[in-house]
Amino acid sequence: MPREEYVLVCISCGESYPREEVVYRCRRCGDLLEARISPGGVFRLDTLIGRVHSMWRYRELLPSFFNRIVSLGEGYTTLVKADKLAKVVGVREFYVKLEGLNPTGSFKDRGMSVGVSMACMIGAKSVVCASTGNTSASLAAYAARAGLECQVYIPEGKIAWGKLFQARMFGAKIYQVAGSFDDALKRVMARGGEDAYILNSVNPWRIEGQKTAAFELWEQMGGKTDYVVALPVGNSGNIAAYWKGFKELQEHGLINDTPRLVGVQAEGASPIAEMLTRGLESLPDWPNPETIATAIRIGRPINWKKGVRAIRDSGGTAVKARDEEILDALRLLATTEGIATEPAGATPIAGVKKLVEEGWLGRDEKVICIATGNMLKDTNEALVSWNKPQKGD
Ligand code: F0G
Repeated sequence: MPREEYVLVCISCGESYPREEVVYRCRRCGDLLEARISPGGVFRLDTLIGRVHSMWRYRELLPSFFNRIVSLGEGYTTLVKADKLAKVVGVREFYVKLEGLNPTGSFKDRGMSVGVSMACMIGAKSVVCASTGNTSASLAAYAARAGLECQVYIPEGKIAWGKLFQARMFGAKIYQVAGSFDDALKRVMARGGEDAYILNSVNPWRIEGQKTAAFELWEQMGGKTDYVVALPVGNSGNIAAYWKGFKELQEHGLINDTPRLVGVQAEGASPIAEMLTRGLESLPDWPNPETIATAIRIGRPINWKKGVRAIRDSGGTAVKARDEEILDALRLLATTEGIATEPAGATPIAGVKKLVEEGWLGRDEKVICIATGNMLKDTNEALVSWNKPQKGD
């Protein structure tokens, strides 16, 4: 079988760059880049049988040019049918994809497997990211496995302890930045990656790994696409990755129609939902993002153009959820189905509930919610304390 070919292409002006060039933004117009693949062949449902139980089972639509694949067995996560939740929410079928089952407990591992393999390919000695927690935990683990130095920039006092513990445990150098994630990312991008390879989702190789979750939904749903996929949105790299995955399935003749993608943001950090619901042409300023779902406490999503495109082109929508609604959704999922996630991972359920109430989602729909992170990362009990001590206790 011929090998696939890759090139990096600007999403605005179409300028292209060789696949191994270290470039994060188009040098001509400054916009985002995308890794574009011309595969040598493609998988089908039946050719996947018996393959490795990780995202690397979709090898035809992933890079094969690496000198080493840095993997911890990421991907191939469980999709649980949630019948009780379907009844409570009021849709025909409801599924939850457990991305918290990935090696470091979040979907970021998919992107880091490809991204850190690329870092090895180009001979990087050091990798760096800004993070609300999960990206740093994941990068630290994959860097350790690859033998690379890892630096992470986090918003001071604003990431869950479990995630900070992971980054420390995996040996990353941790820098706390006064301000938000947006300030931390600005710091990383300003350094331009001169001494370390940047592995935030502005790096198109991250998206290449994360798109495999769409392939998995297609496989797990028996090749069908007659459902809506709802995801939490921060930087909007992940929703863009799902869209890229579904578009590739369509381009290669594996599906006719693509699912609608629903992006859910926490109300206090919802520039994309605001932009789409108000019909704005660009992202509104959001200087002080605030939410208990710290993973998505982001005011200036670096991938907003890709994310907005994914939502619009798929015929989907964006919706906001208040912190109380996110916590209610988290408790609902846990107590009706025995599934839990970190708060950001429950935002899609809160969003779907709203869309059913508003009538955007009909009672006959099939819905898949992506629970993006493991519940044990953020065990701040006060956050979810429905058993507040009563007077006299
Ligand atoms: N859910 C979780 C659990 C996350 O950690 C993130 C992002 C998202 C959803 C949103 O994904 O940014 O691609 O739209 N976490 C990043 C981090 C920002 O640093 O860990 P997105």
